[in-house]
Amino acid sequence: MKCRIKIHLDGRTETVHCESGAVLLEVLYQNGYNIYGPCGGRGSCGKCLVKIIGAQSDSKLRLACRTEVTGDLELELIPQQELKILAEDRGQDFRVDPYIKLETIYLAPPQIDDQRDYLSRINSMLGTRTAVPSALRSLSALEQQTDLSVVTAGDKIIDICSAKTPPPAYGIAVDIGTTTLVMYLIDLVSGEEVGVYACANPQSRFGGDVITRIDHAINQPHGTAKLADALVNALNTGISQLCDQHSLTREQIYHAVLVGNTVMLHTLLGVNPGSIAHAPYVPFFTDALELAAKDLNLAMNPDGIVELLPAVSSYVGADIIADLLVTDFNCDGWKLLVDIGTNGEIVLGNKDQIFACSAAAGPAFEGARIAFGMSGMPGAVASYRITNQNQIEYETIGGREPVGICGSGLVDIIAALYTNGWLTPTGAFENREELVEYREQPAYQIIPNYDIFLTQRDVREYQLAAGAVAAGIRILIQESGIELADVDRVYLAGGFGNYINPESAAALGLIPKELLARVEKIGNGAGAGAKRWLLDRSAKAEALELKRRIKYIELSARADFQEYFTDAMFFPDY
Ligand code: FES
Repeated sequence: MKCRIKIHLDGRTETVHCESGAVLLEVLYQNGYNIYGPCGGRGSCGKCLVKIIGAQSDSKLRLACRTEVTGDLELELIPQQELKILAEDRGQDFRVDPYIKLETIYLAPPQIDDQRDYLSRINSMLGTRTAVPSALRSLSALEQQTDLSVVTAGDKIIDICSAKTPPPAYGIAVDIGTTTLVMYLIDLVSGEEVGVYACANPQSRFGGDVITRIDHAINQPHGTAKLADALVNALNTGISQLCDQHSLTREQIYHAVLVGNTVMLHTLLGVNPGSIAHAPYVPFFTDALELAAKDLNLAMNPDGIVELLPAVSSYVGADIIADLLVTDFNCDGWKLLVDIGTNGEIVLGNKDQIFACSAAAGPAFEGARIAFGMSGMPGAVASYRITNQNQIEYETIGGREPVGICGSGLVDIIAALYTNGWLTPTGAFENREELVEYREQPAYQIIPNYDIFLTQRDVREYQLAAGAVAAGIRILIQESGIELADVDRVYLAGGFGNYINPESAAALGLIPKELLARVEKIGNGAGAGAKRWLLDRSAKAEALELKRRIKYIELSARADFQEYFTDAMFFPDY
């Protein structure tokens, strides 16, 4: 039996259809609705709420992943499709010496006293060694022409055309985040960034963090293939939109450089990431890979090149190597880089030594397991403070009415409560009569007249997440044999790092307060590193050397981790 679902969202109404027995969340996903469900439909995160309305309904909120459609339905969705995505970086200029080169040559007509074949003569001019079949076919069609444009990838010719109509040569740099996907369209001749495409990572429907994605890959039929398809389809949508916007054909995209954490890159290639989730946490690959675009079914030039940056380990991925390519870990002085998401990746190093670790922060910073937590969607409280006059000041994403709390808001709220005497250094609420009860927990109403609460359990979730990151920082400091004062600069990378208020993070000990004055946000450093790799061939050797120099510290194997972790859960004096 077919069921009809009438959906109200943001003043618009749409009707979709599905078979009786379908799961409502799946139906919404299939029809393009972006529902936040970080547990991947397991019914445990409580975030995929929809309001069922209509005559036979009690107008209660229901979990879409636990609602079976057995008849016609009418429902209201919370507007949440405009995920705030970090595409900006520090705008560094990179050297333009790309792997893909567009060369113009004069190929003299063959002579009876020089019977070398056409390809050999081009190879001797350009230093290339081989050519793809499609380039040879083009060459044969241009037999009478002497002025040629040749596109090369290293020692391989991948395209040839008349110099009268040289092809534009473009590349895309891609940052595949667990939550978001950002693609930059780059002119490989001028080095100019000409377009950006950003969207939510479509794998989010299978789970909000890498652990639930791995679980999906292991336990669901064709789980890994579905994860791969979701990513490849999103990449192809991005390429197609960028091409349309800039009047390019897909054949003019010759190079794609992709970065992401190790789980993202495994699933992109359809490689089951299951081994990453259990001890000894060994991934199937971490080296840089060079692939043909057609092997990945990417909608670019089929003879174009796709490269994946190298990773360090299961939990310190190619995105972190990309961050390092745009910071100065090759210079004098100690640098600390922190990229906080569901894992906190931490790197400490100088030009001689680099140490890295990954702290299992869990999904609290992404809004999961927090009563009113949400990702960076419109209406999320993203900054918050209590003034000296005891007034509350806050900002929401998009300036919308507050509906929940995202990661940066969570840190601000807890810091404001701690520094204003609502919380003890152990994270327990002080016994104040203004507190209310929410879900059987002492809770603080963060904004008068809005039913948004921070519960005692939320503070504990924060402490677990932040404690893991702070412990990781301390262990790397200890491992390197330096003092905090020796660290010249602290780079905060990634979306959360970019939006977090460093003062709040330092007040709670997430960042050592001794380093507060040395904090620099680098925005989407992973995307910037991918851009640099695309434009500057020397970046590859540098990345491989960084990978070789990094000593990975497995925190779970450290006997002292628990001690550091317990200690780091306490808020410092302020
Ligand atoms: S409870 Fe439905 S997606 Fe998590």
